[in-house]
Amino acid sequence: MSATSEPSPLHGASESDGALRAGLVGAAEQLLRAVRDLSSARTTDAIAQVVKRTARALVDADGATFVLRDRGHCYYLDEDAIAPLWKGQRFPAETCVSGWVMQRGEQVAMEDIYVDPRVPHAAYRPTFVKSLVMTPVRRADPIAAIGIYWAHPHRATPAELALLQDLADTTAVALENAEVYAELERRVAERTEQLTLVNQELEAFSYSVAHDLRSPLSAILGFAEIIEDRHPSLSSEQITSFSREIVSAGKRMNTLIGALLDFSRSARATLDKIEIDLSSQARAIAERLLAATSPRPLELVIAADMRARADGALFDVMLTNLLSNAIKYTGKKPHARVEVGQLQHPEHGHTFFVRDNGAGFDPAQSQRLFSPFQRLHSDREFIGSGIGLATVARIAKRHDGAVWAESTLGQGATFYFTLP
Ligand SMILES: Nc1ncnc2c1ncn2[C@@H]1O[C@H](COP(=O)(O)OP(=O)(O)OP(=O)(O)O)[C@@H](O)[C@H]1O
Ligand SMILES: [Mg+2]
Repeated sequence: MSATSEPSPLHGASESDGALRAGLVGAAEQLLRAVRDLSSARTTDAIAQVVKRTARALVDADGATFVLRDRGHCYYLDEDAIAPLWKGQRFPAETCVSGWVMQRGEQVAMEDIYVDPRVPHAAYRPTFVKSLVMTPVRRADPIAAIGIYWAHPHRATPAELALLQDLADTTAVALENAEVYAELERRVAERTEQLTLVNQELEAFSYSVAHDLRSPLSAILGFAEIIEDRHPSLSSEQITSFSREIVSAGKRMNTLIGALLDFSRSARATLDKIEIDLSSQARAIAERLLAATSPRPLELVIAADMRARADGALFDVMLTNLLSNAIKYTGKKPHARVEVGQLQHPEHGHTFFVRDNGAGFDPAQSQRLFSPFQRLHSDREFIGSGIGLATVARIAKRHDGAVWAESTLGQGATFYFTLP
């Protein structure tokens, strides 16, 4: 109501018992409606809507604000009033009445705001406000406040103060529920995103498994059928050559299946972290890999005394993949160089790296590398199945670490990883 209308039955003791009772019944109904509306409000904004409307009507005031505690500030989120107040504004907590209330968890009522030193008079002078009540939401540890204002001098009655505190207490529960609800929604969204990602990965995975296994399998079946038919024109040399093709295709399948098993194991295996001598392990892996490739000059530089804590088996898979890439993609360089080292990264902290001077890749594509079956080189250039780095990324993630890459096309690549 405004200054010109009759005071509410709740305002004074001068009313008759009947009018007071009627007023109380009306207030109780409004409060009940607010409880019902608040119980279904899922956001702070929706809560503010209910609160400002109910608070103002409950005590027949000229304005209501809903103020949030925002660290050291008071944020006037919403208002319902006969003229603008401070909606959308933020004030330091020490300079406003809502701040005083939220810092102490005490309700205040002021019949004349201009005699109270807690009121920042300059902020109130442009407004209609003469009297106010400010009520903390969640008394033990206030998270908000409800402001009520009158355009005429008004002394709030104990019944009004009690009603406003009841509304504030209900609001506190609603705000806590909204927070729980928002957290649940956030988690559902996060899980959905994870599931979508896993699903996409799985789709790409099964597609590529089917695709990549089929070509060696077709070769095996084709050559085996020819041999089985025993055509009279088939020479024994041809049979030997076809058998060799069958063995080589079988080996390719075996390698791919091995890589797939590593990939799926990297997701499921339980971590058994041990202290790892990264320097000697890197040397052992590199030598093992080099022994399996046709001999060529390759300068191997491994920093001394590198140590990490990781699962032994998974770490072996990770480093094997990075080093096998470095060796593979330097295959066409006359002076190949592979370096394993460590550094202090400004953002990631202690970081290891595997660097080579090989074919490199387009840096704009660097994120793709870590998804399964994404290859930046064709089989004609470098043979591979595109599962190695996806496995590396998974292993790093399982150790709460990260992996990323830098490169200049044609000038080599550096793969970084952390194992916190
Ligand atoms: N050291 C590197 N230099 C240049 N390109 C690289 C390097 N390491 C990886 N890549 C690029 O990233 C792609 C993905 O690497 P990843 O190790 O996952 O697969 P791959 O080496 O092709 O096959 P494999 O599954 O047998 O390891 C490669 O196909 C290649 O294009
Ligand atoms: Mg690889």
